[in-house]
Amino acid sequence: MNLKDINVLVTGGAGFIGSNLVEALLNLEANVTVFDNLETGKIANLQEFEENERFTFINGDIRDFDACVNAVKGIDVISHQAALGSVPRSIEFPHNTHAVNATGFLNMLHAAKEAGIKRFVYASSSSVYGDINISPKVVGTEGNLLSPYAVTKQLNEQYAKVYARLHGMETVGLRYFNVFGPKQDPHGVYAAAIPKFIDKLMNGEEIIINGDGEQTRDFTYVLNAVKANILSLTTDNQSAFGGVYNVACGEYYSLNKVINEIQQNLKSFGKFNNNSTIVHGPERPGDVRDSLADITNTKADLGYVNPISFNAGMSDYLKSMFS
Ligand SMILES: NC(=O)c1ccc[n+]([C@@H]2O[C@H](COP(=O)([O-])OP(=O)(O)OC[C@H]3O[C@@H](n4cnc5c(N)ncnc54)[C@H](O)[C@@H]3O)[C@@H](O)[C@H]2O)c1
Repeated sequence: MNLKDINVLVTGGAGFIGSNLVEALLNLEANVTVFDNLETGKIANLQEFEENERFTFINGDIRDFDACVNAVKGIDVISHQAALGSVPRSIEFPHNTHAVNATGFLNMLHAAKEAGIKRFVYASSSSVYGDINISPKVVGTEGNLLSPYAVTKQLNEQYAKVYARLHGMETVGLRYFNVFGPKQDPHGVYAAAIPKFIDKLMNGEEIIINGDGEQTRDFTYVLNAVKANILSLTTDNQSAFGGVYNVACGEYYSLNKVINEIQQNLKSFGKFNNNSTIVHGPERPGDVRDSLADITNTKADLGYVNPISFNAGMSDYLKSMFS
């Protein structure tokens, strides 16, 4: 399927991953509606699209079922990105996370089903692997969940599978592994590691690493997540429906190595500030030690080939900040 002139709804489209997806969809000449309550997303992330006649913004909340019903009117396919991210936030405020990530998800899925919309692509998370000690992580080998956030993402996958089976919906779940890139918010207590590190290394501030910094992650450039969404929105592969797929690079980096890479890159742009220091704090509850994805099925079923490497993504990201 080609997305030209297709009406795509992107929930959470004012957020980091959503706004990068909106840009790619508009480049493909899709008609894009963003549905977002701006809880963590920013209108500034959408400013560049305001003049585009294919672009529409709806300020609304996925916890409100009627608002979801209105948002899906006239829509052909959905990419559901809206959620409250962050494991620590979910430990501190589980009710909020549940209301948005679980009830809000069901609202969107059910509104889509009622409107006869079949294709429903959604953001899951590598957190559903929990404490499983297998590397790389393969769909179907999940361990004990470690946070309320992970519970909500696992619930999303269960609901999507049930709606695929009961109602013939074409759901595809994408388990993102630590995504980074342009438009990711570096500020706030729940900010992700990479934008926070970049910000602090540029401004000569202290970086606090939880634990020894040797924990590893399969850091994924945002354009890989965008590509996985577009492949999932357009695939004809029936066996992908009701399924979930790892979205990652298939390579791992420790936090210490990531900081080193950022330092080298910033130096080459003349943006590194020597005053920053690194200190180690206690490990964070709910965090896993190592996280590497097996992307074999994502390649085979969705055609997710040649993901952008960590290094290429990092250099692209920093270039976009300084050019
Ligand atoms: N960034 C990552 O590394 C990562 C990893 C795994 C999974 N994910 C998932 O990917 C998706 C996008 O994450 P992101 O990093 O772009 O986060 P983000 O916070 O930048 O984007 C989430 C968007 O959802 C919107 N939103 C929140 N609550 C809402 C509500 N009640 N109604 C309507 N909109 C609401 C926010 O305003 C924001 O624009 C989320 O589902 C997240 O759980 C992200």
